[in-house]
Amino acid sequence: VTSRAQNDVERWWQALASDQELVLLDGFHAVKHALRFRADVPLIVSTDKQGLVAMASALAPDLVGKLAARVVEVTADLYRKLLPRTHPTGTAAWARRPPESFVDVLRTPGPRNAPVVVLDNPRNLGNVGAVVRLAAGMGCSGVLTTGGVDPWHPQVVRGSAGLHFAIPVLSGRIDTLPAGPLIAFDANGTDLRLARIPDNALLAFGSERLGISTAVRGKATSLLAIPMQPKVSSYNLATSVAMVLYHWSLQRLNAS
Ligand SMILES: C[S@@+](CC[C@H](N)C(=O)[O-])C[C@H]1O[C@@H](n2cnc3c(N)ncnc32)[C@H](O)[C@@H]1O
Repeated sequence: VTSRAQNDVERWWQALASDQELVLLDGFHAVKHALRFRADVPLIVSTDKQGLVAMASALAPDLVGKLAARVVEVTADLYRKLLPRTHPTGTAAWARRPPESFVDVLRTPGPRNAPVVVLDNPRNLGNVGAVVRLAAGMGCSGVLTTGGVDPWHPQVVRGSAGLHFAIPVLSGRIDTLPAGPLIAFDANGTDLRLARIPDNALLAFGSERLGISTAVRGKATSLLAIPMQPKVSSYNLATSVAMVLYHWSLQRLNAS
C-alpha cells in the first residue's frame, strides 16, 4: 500500500468523520451487524484485510464477498491515528444512521407486537449498548433512552456490536413516550414471575445509581421486581433487562 493511498484514505476518513449523519463502527462485530442489517457503510478499514476476510469465513460467511470487495487495508500507524481507541480486531468503519422513518414506531401511537425498552436516564454507555444488543436479539420494537446520554455514542454502538441498525434506537422524553402500558422495574415492586407483560408494553428501567425516576414512577401502570435473595440490593441494569425480556419471551412462547 503506497503512502499516497494511505493519505487518500486518511482524508476520506476525516471527511466522513465530520458528517453528523455518520456513526463510527468500532471493531469487526459492529461492522458485521451494520452490513447484515443493510446499513449504508461508505468506508471500512482494517489493518489486516486477509485476516479479516478469514475471520468472516468463520464467523460471518454471508459477508465474505462484501468484505473482500469493500475493505480498505491501512497500516497499523494510520489505524492508530484514525481511532482514538483501537479495537483488537483492527477494524473500523463509518455508517450512515438509519433514516428517520426507521424510528417512527417509537414516535407514533400505532400498534406494536413487541415491547419497547425505556432506559430512564442511564449513565453507563456499555450498559446502554448491551441493552440495545439484548433488545435486538429478543425482537423488541426498539430502545428509548431519556436523559443526557446519546444512545448513538460510539461506545454505545461498540457495546451493542452494531445492532443499532437492527432495531430503532432513539433518545426521547418521559412526557412524549409512545402509547402502551408503562411497566417500571424496581426491587420494591411486585413479583415479575406472577405478572403478564403485554406485547405492546413499554418496559422502563432506572438509572444505575438513582433507579427509576419519580416521573416514570408516577406514570407507570405497574411496578415489578425481579426476585433477589435477601441482602442483595439490586442487579446490574443490562442484566435486569435481560431477565425481563426472557420472561416476556417465555410467556409469548407459552401463549402460542
Ligand atoms: C443498578 S439498578 C439501580 C439501583 C438503584 N440504586 C436503585 O435504588 O434502584 C438499575 C435498574 O435495574 C433495575 N433493577 C435492578 N434490580 C432489580 C430488581 N431486583 N427488580 C427490578 N428491577 C431491578 C431497575 O430498573 C433499576 O432502576
